[in-house]
Amino acid sequence: MNLNKNQHTNRDRRSREETGEVASFPIALEVILLILKIFITVCESIFRTIVPVPKKSVQGEIVLITGAGHGIGRELALQYADLDAIVVCWDIHEQANKNVVSHITKKGKTAYGYICDVTNREEVIKTVQTVEREVGKITVLINNAGILEVRSLLEHDEEDIRRTIEINTVSHFWTLQAVLPNMIKNNHGHVVALSSHVGLGGFRNMVPYCASKYAVRGMMSALNEELRYNPQNQIKLTTIFPYIVSTGLCTNYKIRFPQLFKEVTPKVAAECIISAQRRNIVEETIPEFSLTVHNILQTFPKKAVYLIRDFINIRFESNK
Ligand SMILES: NC(=O)c1ccc[n+]([C@@H]2O[C@H](COP(=O)([O-])OP(=O)(O)OC[C@H]3O[C@@H](n4cnc5c(N)ncnc54)[C@H](O)[C@@H]3O)[C@@H](O)[C@H]2O)c1
Repeated sequence: MNLNKNQHTNRDRRSREETGEVASFPIALEVILLILKIFITVCESIFRTIVPVPKKSVQGEIVLITGAGHGIGRELALQYADLDAIVVCWDIHEQANKNVVSHITKKGKTAYGYICDVTNREEVIKTVQTVEREVGKITVLINNAGILEVRSLLEHDEEDIRRTIEINTVSHFWTLQAVLPNMIKNNHGHVVALSSHVGLGGFRNMVPYCASKYAVRGMMSALNEELRYNPQNQIKLTTIFPYIVSTGLCTNYKIRFPQLFKEVTPKVAAECIISAQRRNIVEETIPEFSLTVHNILQTFPKKAVYLIRDFINIRFESNK
């Protein structure tokens, strides 16, 4: 067979690459560069724990909050409005949602209310279209609506399990698919998702809830990778893992050291969430230090973690 000079060169290069001969120098250089970049990133991160990233403005941003009628969602709506964002409140409870909107508008700030069941894909798509027509393109999406049923796995009926996963997890797919196209088109936007401390570690009597909150973390992590694929991407993601917040969602629990592990108020929780969003933090626990504790515990043997858990002795009792 007659091979021309180029074909010979390519074949030789390929065979040298396969044996690692050619690639060794550029890869060594790449590794050195990688180590250097990692070092710079670690230094930057240490610097940023001392001097936090400045908070970006949310003035004029159109912030959609699901489950805005009560608890954390309500506080988020009030605080975003105070920061001069245009707030779009969604809830299934009409009166509660109306109250939040009128509370905001009475203060001279801007808010709009819509009744939307986030588990209903058609309704989500239609309501986003209505919001875009009446208010404008959504630039901040906060997937907050959620429910909690506390009971053993075998006490949960099919309806319980489906509703928990539908509201806490599946709904995020529908809002994301409805809102992301415009964010991608304008290369501008921010998505915040509410997971939970129990989305970092499992708890008794919370199997479906934990599963739904772990799933939120996985969804946001994978979406982050999808968006990162575009090197110019400017759409930011934030996942929040709150400890118990005094909204009434989680009441039937006992803990050995209640003074050490105090409930967080919805006001403080909303402040932390907004601060994380405005600083483009990818994952944030409430309180902040618990993410570091969680990361350290991840390196411990499981049995050691069980010993610590048994010592702290937090128990969520069945609400059946
Ligand atoms: N409260 C806590 O201790 C705590 C802890 C960790 C995480 N979280 C998470 O934070 C989020 C908010 O919790 P919260 O304590 O403020 O809850 P909440 O019960 O006070 O408020 C939830 C709101 O969501 C609305 N909602 C429920 N189903 C809906 C649906 N299908 N469509 C639209 N709206 C719906 C409710 O009407 C309600 O207004 C939830 O995702 C929850 O899992 C809460």
